[in-house]
Amino acid sequence: MNKLIKSYIVVLFLMVLTGCNKANNAKSKEIVTPFNAQVDSLMALMTLQEKIGQTVMYSGGWSITGPTVSSNNKKFIKEGNVGAMLNVYSVKGTRDLQKMAVEETRLGIPLLFGYDVIHGFKTIFPINLGLAASWDLEDIEKGSRIAAEEASAEGIHWTFAPMVDIARDPRWGRISEGAGEDVYLGSEIAKAYVKGFQGNDLSKYNTILACAKHFVGYGAAQAGRDYHTVNMGDDELQNVYLPPFKASVNAGVETFMTAFNEVNGVPATGNKFIFRDILRDQWGFNGFVVTDYTAINELVMHGFAKDRKHATELAIKAGIDQDMMSSANRQYLEELVNEGKVDVKLINDACRRILLAKYKLGLFDDPYRYCDEQREKAIVYKPEFLEAARHSAAMCSVLLKNDDESLPLNTNQSIALIGPLVKDKENIIGNWAAAGDRKGKAISIYEGIQEYLSNSKISFAKGCEIEGKNDNDFKDAINVARSADKVVMVLGEDYDMSGEAASRTNIKLPGRQTDLIKAIRKAVPNKKIILVLMNGRPLDLSEEDTLADAILETWFPGTSGGYGVADVLFGKYNPSGKLPVTFPRTLGQIPIYYNMKNTGRPIPPNNPKEDYKSNYIDVPNTPLYPFGHGLSYTTFKYSDFKLSSDIINISDTLSVSSTITNTGDYDGHEIVQLYVHDKVGSITRPVKELKGFQKIFLKKGESKEVQFQLTSKDLEFYNNKAFVIESGDFEVAITGTSNFDFQHAFKLE
Ligand code: NOJ
Repeated sequence: MNKLIKSYIVVLFLMVLTGCNKANNAKSKEIVTPFNAQVDSLMALMTLQEKIGQTVMYSGGWSITGPTVSSNNKKFIKEGNVGAMLNVYSVKGTRDLQKMAVEETRLGIPLLFGYDVIHGFKTIFPINLGLAASWDLEDIEKGSRIAAEEASAEGIHWTFAPMVDIARDPRWGRISEGAGEDVYLGSEIAKAYVKGFQGNDLSKYNTILACAKHFVGYGAAQAGRDYHTVNMGDDELQNVYLPPFKASVNAGVETFMTAFNEVNGVPATGNKFIFRDILRDQWGFNGFVVTDYTAINELVMHGFAKDRKHATELAIKAGIDQDMMSSANRQYLEELVNEGKVDVKLINDACRRILLAKYKLGLFDDPYRYCDEQREKAIVYKPEFLEAARHSAAMCSVLLKNDDESLPLNTNQSIALIGPLVKDKENIIGNWAAAGDRKGKAISIYEGIQEYLSNSKISFAKGCEIEGKNDNDFKDAINVARSADKVVMVLGEDYDMSGEAASRTNIKLPGRQTDLIKAIRKAVPNKKIILVLMNGRPLDLSEEDTLADAILETWFPGTSGGYGVADVLFGKYNPSGKLPVTFPRTLGQIPIYYNMKNTGRPIPPNNPKEDYKSNYIDVPNTPLYPFGHGLSYTTFKYSDFKLSSDIINISDTLSVSSTITNTGDYDGHEIVQLYVHDKVGSITRPVKELKGFQKIFLKKGESKEVQFQLTSKDLEFYNNKAFVIESGDFEVAITGTSNFDFQHAFKLE
């Protein structure tokens, strides 16, 4: 190969992979915590069956009177055959079961209660993809702290969050649950969630275990179809999909969850390479691993295990500690040990890790410490939580387009509110809304707007259903539009069109909603139409982009969403969100993401029509709205770019700075982004990579110098069994969007 990189390749066999790895290795075998002696004495008393019991999790259900648990599951709990329950919450519900475990089993080992606390527990924050659009790590940490406060007050010890799967396919419904497409942003956000949920001290009554999921590659499901096959080489696995998980480990995450998918032919739940080799041996992870729901059983359907018993053997050997809902460990582990197929040591290890988590939470000191009725009453829906959710909803909104300053709205004008989501209180809290209320607690956009406008200035028409087929109500909507000064349309998806098992092959607005805007545009050609969107994935908005004057992406903004969005619409909060994921022009461009590779035949900058280049013949290669894009009511100028040096060596720190000036008429936040491009590598490098960001606030007319420090470690990547840092030429930029051309460069010697 014609190697252009000068000189030497500085190979940084990162500690993670070699030397220090060994230390970590040792660590992962011998977990050292203040609770070792207690766990040892407890385990000395336990039968094999009781140890296996700790590796078993069952689900409760929910009825209008509260949690329900089947009589079978109660029996298993009393026999000491269950270590954890999911989907049971409330002080009463968890206390009753905990009592059973503590008072009616031989050893009285408390249960662990896990739940999907994904973007809030009762006070629901914007969906996670929306939270990522705030790029506000403090706010994300604060939101997950609030979620932990509420969940822990209702008996929950453990959340199955954060989902740190990189997702680059908007067809995949679970793109809504993660932080989007970028490795750096995703890793920073992963850490913020873990810190928020777990706090600094797990023994506090208001902290809960976090769970990095789904290990690994779940977001890369072929064709965006949930649970589908994942095939990827080392480059993609190590440089894109693993880093947010590694970041979670570094942040101290206590648990991991397996992915449903296979990775290169081996289903994750039976995948030794990812759990034993990478997670335990290379990263030194000492917490415990739970399967996803029935994932052990699914090894059979994958065609990887011949039956459930075989699947049980494969999972424990792969390094999986707890079985969520397969009933496989309970049924087969003991038999497998007796037959000499599974070493009892594997069960001891799994049991030990799970018990350790219970000790860390303080459950052996007081198994009911999360069951305090007073606290439950005082904590959920605290006004300050609802206020924080309002603020998040505002910060997560992304202004995609704003022609002729159509926004903000002013309070003197009359507004026609049109669309199926205007008065909605059910969808607005989004998918995976934990114990969130879909029946009236949430603030609709309509109610939010009522805070700013008197009823006489608001008119309303639904226009159509989200997914309906008919246009019977278009007429009303047109009349309402004609009678008002401006039109605000609130359109989008149903909450369950994203989330698990909610993949779509069509990412346009569902039903007749696009036709509705067309009809309104035709009826009021000269009136401003503001489109407010609620959706759980990037949509194809190419038509809407030509029809609306302004577009505000609010995702599903949560319990206080109506207030937060109205704050943005009326300019109380100047929008600052930036897209954490690319919005394509059309479905056919998928996958499309900003940090793609270049190909040998990229389109030349100003000549998209040239033949035999890597372009489509029917649409431009560019997205409709790129990663990092998001407008403000003000404008920001980037100037005075400075590098502390043009040449750095491996141990130097490069300082990169730029002055940002608020040149418009509003105070506002800007998310300043640092990108680099490694021009030549021993494996090809992306055309752009985000390496840092800062959210700053500037009053109108104000300027600030924003500085980033880059070290050679920031430039490393994985190639051929190791992380490497390679000398050579790099481009660098500080911008407010990923859509830019590099103007500056430096050399690493
Ligand atoms: C299945 C989902 O994939 C996972 O994310 C979730 O935590 C479990 N079910 C438990 O509800």
